[in-house]
Amino acid sequence: MATLKAVRGTRDLLPPEAALWNRIEAAARAVFARYNFGEIRTPIFEDTSLFARSVGEETDIVSKEMYTWSDGERFDEKKMIAEWIENNQSREPQRVQPDRINVQGNPPFLVKLNALGVQRQVYRGLMQGQHLTGVTELVSFRPVLSSEAISSLLKARDLARSDPSSQLQQHRIKLRLVVPTSSPLNPWVDRSEVVVEQFEGQFFASSQSLTLRPENTAGVVRAYIEHGLGESGQLQKLYYIGPQFRRERPQKGRYRQFWQIGAEVIGPPSAGSESPLRDAEVLEMLATLLDELGITGWTLELNSVGSAADRERYNQALREALVPLAPKMCADCQRRAVTNPLRVLDCKVPEDQPIIATLPVIADSLDEDSRAHFAQVTAALDAAGVPYKLNHRLVRGLDYYTRTTFEFTHGGLGAQNALLGGGRYDGLSESIGGPKAPGIGFAIGLDRLVLTLQAQESTQTAAAQAVKADAYVAPIGESLNAAALVLARELRRAGLRVELGDGSFRLKKSFETADKIARRIVILGEDELQSGILTVKDFASGTQTKVPRAELAKFLNG
Ligand code: HAM
Repeated sequence: MATLKAVRGTRDLLPPEAALWNRIEAAARAVFARYNFGEIRTPIFEDTSLFARSVGEETDIVSKEMYTWSDGERFDEKKMIAEWIENNQSREPQRVQPDRINVQGNPPFLVKLNALGVQRQVYRGLMQGQHLTGVTELVSFRPVLSSEAISSLLKARDLARSDPSSQLQQHRIKLRLVVPTSSPLNPWVDRSEVVVEQFEGQFFASSQSLTLRPENTAGVVRAYIEHGLGESGQLQKLYYIGPQFRRERPQKGRYRQFWQIGAEVIGPPSAGSESPLRDAEVLEMLATLLDELGITGWTLELNSVGSAADRERYNQALREALVPLAPKMCADCQRRAVTNPLRVLDCKVPEDQPIIATLPVIADSLDEDSRAHFAQVTAALDAAGVPYKLNHRLVRGLDYYTRTTFEFTHGGLGAQNALLGGGRYDGLSESIGGPKAPGIGFAIGLDRLVLTLQAQESTQTAAAQAVKADAYVAPIGESLNAAALVLARELRRAGLRVELGDGSFRLKKSFETADKIARRIVILGEDELQSGILTVKDFASGTQTKVPRAELAKFLNG
């Protein structure tokens, strides 16, 4: 059998590289804390329509790159039971005693019945003192006839006979399995002891279309609406770290499962969510984060795509300009020229680029308000000394953007040079049924951040050093294994990073192994155990020291 491999476009992160990821994530969390952001974790999959309505049907992400599936039909057991009871009550009032069918309480027997998938007992009979006499039918409602359903009913009957809490000892017990008429009756199932009833009705809820999140802004805004976060009247400052999924052609810096570190500032307009100062603050925070991570040589590219009305005007200008040009362009552009001309600017086809260069720029379609907003963003950035480059072609590949859009690019990344991207989305909440909640945010491509840092050699060395253990505990002989575990436990509880060797290793092998993965080796032989004086060798200096066990943790910490 062929060996299994990670799916194309996905990859494993192994130590020591994973340590670098952790370091970046920790640095990001620390910066977010200083800017007073809190963490949000949203589900990895959402209803497909969330992305269609926010990111936009015509975007590459939604039209080509999403991992979408139908969650399958769901058997609506409650509906079937309710209809069956109603049906039986009207037809045979004596046969079905509603109070008994609908028992909601939790007598022990009913709980056990439910665990067996037997949802109802129906009786006809008399109460004699504490006991029911007559015929009782145990009824199970299932999506299909299966051997499992039959055997559960048989077990339920045994239980009814043996469990005193059933109060059915005096009863004749019959078994009934109710399945929808639409389910085929499996001829291999032995149903000699059970009445199988095919019940007419539609008991399968329609399936839901689900999608692995291709980005996290839509999920955050959905959560903002769902939990009424705007009701506090305050700005919500939320960050997230997690995997995203896009079916793109894999290449360096582009994966099908990739990671983002992102943040969103969102709230009612009264909280200042529309203020250009929010934009400038977010951009300044990003510059700080990249500087603190030691990333040099980044470029902040900045643009404004204006208000929804500006974009409509721009779309119109593009539509007109594209009438004579589109027939010379790729099939996607020809379609988009009509449906959503802005998306023509996302085209990556080399032959189309000279044509795209001649198209109108959005800056010419901005109204006074949008221009003034943008001017305030750039003025605040100038004041804070955050360098940027205006790029009027930067419209970003997602439909929800309004006004400020930006990307931080890095020359070291090659073709996929966007380290991060983001912008303002003042109408997004309303487009998915929420209140007015302007916002701005970004997402950093964590995979690309790691690639950039790895390219900076000094960090690589630092990461490699960071994974060396403080000490390697080497038991001399297998009889000392347990004692070594105890010593390692002591040191680990004192906060040290400790590797535990193995008593079956010869001393030479212990030294060789320790030298590769730890800064020092602690020898634990019979003598050391008895005397409580341990021998520690430091690999960098080559010195060997005798240390009393009580002082060992302190010594290794030094
Ligand atoms: P985005 O530009 O689609 O924006 O993605 C943000 C970043 O994620 C990109 O700049 C890139 O670094 C990284 N990225 C995207 N696709 C891949 C991939 N296939 N492989 C590796 N890295 C990738 C968004 O996702 C928006 N939600 C950002 C945002 C937040 N806007 C407002 N708030």
